[in-house]
Amino acid sequence: MCCAVTDTMTPPTKQESALECRVLDASDAEAYWHFRLESLEREPLAFTEAPSEHRQMTIAETAERLRQHPGNPSFVVGAFVNGKLAGIAGFYRQKGDKTRHKGHVFGVYVAAEHRGKSIARQVMTELLRRARALPGLEQVDLSVAETQPAARKLYESLGFQVWGREPRAVKVGDKYVDEEWMVVRFDQGPLRGRI
Ligand SMILES: CC(C)(COP(=O)(O)OP(=O)(O)OC[C@H]1O[C@@H](n2cnc3c(N)ncnc32)[C@H](O)[C@@H]1OP(=O)(O)O)[C@@H](O)C(=O)NCCC(=O)NCCS
Repeated sequence: MCCAVTDTMTPPTKQESALECRVLDASDAEAYWHFRLESLEREPLAFTEAPSEHRQMTIAETAERLRQHPGNPSFVVGAFVNGKLAGIAGFYRQKGDKTRHKGHVFGVYVAAEHRGKSIARQVMTELLRRARALPGLEQVDLSVAETQPAARKLYESLGFQVWGREPRAVKVGDKYVDEEWMVVRFDQGPLRGRI
């Protein structure tokens, strides 16, 4: 499946309507809000945020977070299949003087009916390409639950390496889930020169 990467809000042409990857903006807030809720409801062990917490955020607040401007250190890459959101991956950059060399990935999710078609790989590749282009950004980390081996394999294949494990990082009902923390550095490892 091809992935047309675009920076604008121009609707996809017929030719590129199969899959479009782009950074979401404020106008995507409603679609993103619902898609994020779907991810939290369908994959409760994969994410730390609870659906009830997500519901407390309004569409207007979501739009403000997605609005792209120079002061916004975060973005969400979305994959659209025939104009409908099918996959997402979020990024934010630490703000402190001593931590702004680091970024963090959150909320990676592909709708069940679209899995196994390289959508997550393309969304993550686009996220890493953009992160790498940020001046002074040197590494990106993420956490992955032990219950999500597909995600872990994806991250490993993109160059992320495990640096630690947090036992009982998440408690869902009476079930505890460990999380592994992974990092990719742009100055070394298999990603070097690839993105
Ligand atoms: C993890 C997830 C995002 C992968 O999405 P996807 O679009 O199906 O993944 P892709 O087709 O791009 O596959 C990319 C790589 O992921 C890994 N992968 C994907 N599905 C896999 C599976 N069922 N089993 C093992 N590895 C798998 C493989 O390394 C694959 O590369 P390959 O095709 O070259 O072998 C998706 O399964 C998902 O949303 N899972 C639930 C939520 C989740 O776990 N999010 C991560 C939170 S940290």
